[in-house]
Amino acid sequence: MKSIEYQLSRRCFVQSLAAVLATLQLAPVRVWSAVNSPLRKEIPGTGESLPVIGMGTSRTFDIDSRGQLDSLAPVMRAFFANGGELIDSSPMYGAAEQVIGELLQRIGHREPLFAATKVWTDGAQAGVRQMEDSARKWGVKRFDLMQIHNLVDWQTHLRTLKRWKAKGKVRYIGITTSHGRDRRELETILRTEKLDFVQFSYNIADRSAEDRLLPIAAERGMAVLINRPYQRGGLFRTVKGKELPEWAAEFDCVSWGQFFLKFIVSHPAVTCAIPATAKLHHMQDNMAAGFGRQPDAAMRSRMADYFARM
Ligand SMILES: NC(=O)c1ccc[n+]([C@@H]2O[C@H](COP(=O)([O-])OP(=O)(O)OC[C@H]3O[C@@H](n4cnc5c(N)ncnc54)[C@H](OP(=O)(O)O)[C@@H]3O)[C@@H](O)[C@H]2O)c1
Repeated sequence: MKSIEYQLSRRCFVQSLAAVLATLQLAPVRVWSAVNSPLRKEIPGTGESLPVIGMGTSRTFDIDSRGQLDSLAPVMRAFFANGGELIDSSPMYGAAEQVIGELLQRIGHREPLFAATKVWTDGAQAGVRQMEDSARKWGVKRFDLMQIHNLVDWQTHLRTLKRWKAKGKVRYIGITTSHGRDRRELETILRTEKLDFVQFSYNIADRSAEDRLLPIAAERGMAVLINRPYQRGGLFRTVKGKELPEWAAEFDCVSWGQFFLKFIVSHPAVTCAIPATAKLHHMQDNMAAGFGRQPDAAMRSRMADYFARM
């Protein structure tokens, strides 16, 4: 058996290599999986587990040229090669669902994929048509997770989704909001309805979900997806030109992206964060956050204090 020192120095070496290669944008698609495997968390309702880093597709996958599709193929390949499973989309995101379907076909990916999208329209019939259309675009027989986007006509869609789940037409059902919209109404829904997943915004600069939403989701046994983990990229503007603190190495963190994502996924109530990127080196950076040690509660408050002083 290899000594701890050997394993640590090997891990350090691989992390430095990954960071350097990522900076140069020359990284081989699979950097991390050779050394260990990504952290997974359980979906409370079933005990099935998911890798803690998923992939968002808002804006980044809403493209309209073959050239852009060509450059997204390695991004998606890197996602799966580094242990990714959950992809989140919505009919709201323009061409994104079609692009996901084309890329899945192009890279020949089948399993494991945890396909998560949303219904975003008014009316039962329109909702059914939209969900069926999404499945055709993705090229999947059924979705693992169907979420009601931004609470739109939620009572109507929830009735449909409960029926679909009972028939096995969808595996899990959920609801979403973002940037603090409709918080009170969402809280009421979480307290009164039986949902498998909830998705909302949470990041090191916007921690309001810690007060009520995260505790309610934990209490009600719901899996939690976190959107806008980088505040739509705004977090990087705050830390531009600033060095990572040395102590970030204590939780195997070599970039600001990993700092922000590890802060999120180490919260006990969070199941998975879904950062979006159209760049290969950012995808590799994001996926690396699911590997290695994660901050504990004391370290998380040190991270938050450090960021708040910037
Ligand atoms: N109501 C809802 O249901 C709802 C609302 C909002 C979002 N969402 C979901 O959540 C996902 C994530 O949220 P979001 O897309 O709004 O914002 P986000 O993930 O917080 O930020 C995305 C931005 O961060 C940049 N980025 C990604 N990785 C990076 C890295 N490692 N280093 C530096 N920059 C990086 C991306 O630019 P590059 O392309 O240059 O990397 C992009 O501009 C969405 O895509 C969507 O699937 C759902």
